[in-house]
Formats: sequence, structure tokens, C-alpha cells
Amino acid sequence: MTNVIEIKNLSKSFGSHEVLRDVNFSVKKGEVVCLIGSSGSGKSTLLRCVNLLETPSGGNIIYNGENILDSKHNVEQYRTHLGMVFQQFNLFNNLNVIDNCTVGQQKVLKRSKAEAIEKAMKYLEVVGMAQYKNAKPRQLSGGQKQRVAIARALAMDPDVMLFDEPTSALDPEMVGEVLKVMRMLASQGNTMLIVTHEMEFAREVADRIVFMDKGVIVEEGHPDQVLVNPQHERTKEFLKRTLKS
Ligand SMILES: Nc1ncnc2c1ncn2[C@@H]1O[C@H](COP(=O)(O)OP(=O)(O)O)[C@@H](O)[C@H]1O
Ligand SMILES: [Mg+2]
Repeated sequence: MTNVIEIKNLSKSFGSHEVLRDVNFSVKKGEVVCLIGSSGSGKSTLLRCVNLLETPSGGNIIYNGENILDSKHNVEQYRTHLGMVFQQFNLFNNLNVIDNCTVGQQKVLKRSKAEAIEKAMKYLEVVGMAQYKNAKPRQLSGGQKQRVAIARALAMDPDVMLFDEPTSALDPEMVGEVLKVMRMLASQGNTMLIVTHEMEFAREVADRIVFMDKGVIVEEGHPDQVLVNPQHERTKEFLKRTLKS
């Protein structure tokens, strides 16, 4: 299978603080990769480098065979191929659900309003939020907001969906409804890169688990390998801590 995204020797520093060091990994078409690791290990920074919300200090990001850090490459164009779902939803609070899901399509992809609405409704159906199309974000629960955020990202027809701890800001009773949507997307062959603390979920859906610690990838592999039979002491310690809580 072909690599959709390939990260090569990526590094990122904030001032003298080196947050990512020589990170290498790839995401293939249709693959679900879960990124795990302690708080502060650099997971969000890595995801933000992948979609160029942060500029890497070194290394390369290859998207469908093209080096997107090449100065000739159009960053805006590249970003439209990535769907991003954040911990804090990041919906436009002044816009209702349907407008949240159409504004990017119209502005960035130059779709007509009718086409944007059709796409938006398709994905609001997928996440079970179609009946809330006229609601404002403040009228929704956290789980509902996150499902709208997922629909909004999907409506852009991205090549890859990036999730940064999409359930970490949710009340426990709402985690399930969001994971259910993500499970479905995973089973339908979507290419997904997911930062998560939900180990059960990761074990179930991931084709590959990448464990990060202090800005480096310590170990990666099939869930059964990394989660059940970890090879490195740091992975073992992390899992012991995480699975206990
Ligand atoms: N914009 C920033 N400026 C300075 N330091 C940052 C910035 N963003 C993240 N960091 C630092 O980078 C490290 C990794 O953070 P982060 O990527 O958010 O980790 P994780 O998502 O794994 O919890 C932390 O030490 C954090 O304080
Ligand atoms: Mg984070």
C-alpha cells in the first residue's frame, strides 16, 4: 500500500526546548494509526507539524510522494487534504451546525452553497447529528459538538483524518458516542491518525500503534505487539501507569 503521509527525521524546538527529535513514521492509505504517550511527550506538536499549524525545525513531510516543506509547495492546498479534529471541538460558536459544516467547503473548496449543504447533511447523518442542523453549538453537549466537528472535517473530503485526543475534554458518559463514530469511520477504510488515551479503543481499531516518549518514537507496531508485548522499558512503564488509572 502507498504512503499517504511520510514523516522523515522530523524535529521541532521551541527556543532551546527540543520537543520532537528525529521522528520517522508513515501512514498508509486506509490505515488507522494511534499515537500514544504521556502528557508532554510531543503528540500534539507532532500532529500540528503534520498539518503545518507548527513549522518543523527540521526534517521532511512527504504527502503522496511530494515534499510539502519544499518552498514551491502550496501549504493551503495541502491543508485542505487533512481533516483535523481537536480536543476542544473548535466549532464556530456564532454559527449553527449546518453553517459550521458548510463554511469551509464554500470558502476553501469553492463549492456552491447547495453542494456544501448536501455534503454537510450527508456527514451529519453519518455522525447522527442531522436533526440538530439548526442548533447553535452552545445548545449541544460535548459529545454532540465533537460529532459535529467530525462531520465538518469529513465534509471537506480529506485524504487523512487527524484526531488530537477527541474524547479527552468530554464527560465520561459522552466518550462512547464519539468513539462509536470513530470506530465506524475506521471500519470504512478511512485513513486516520489518532492521538488517544483510550487504550481499549486503540487496541481495537488501530492497525498500528506508535508510542512516543519525550519527543521520540520509542516503539511502534501492531496493537498486540506494542500493548500486550512491549519491548521497551519506557513503553512498559507507560502502559502500567495508564492501564491502572
Ligand atoms: N507553542 C509552544 N511553545 C513552547 N512550548 C511548547 C509549545 N507547544 C508545546 N510546547 C511544549 O512541547 C512539549 C510537548 O507538548 P505537546 O506536543 O502538547 O505534548 P502532548 O500532546 O504529548 O501532551 C511540552 O513540553 C510543551 O510544553
Ligand atoms: Mg496533546
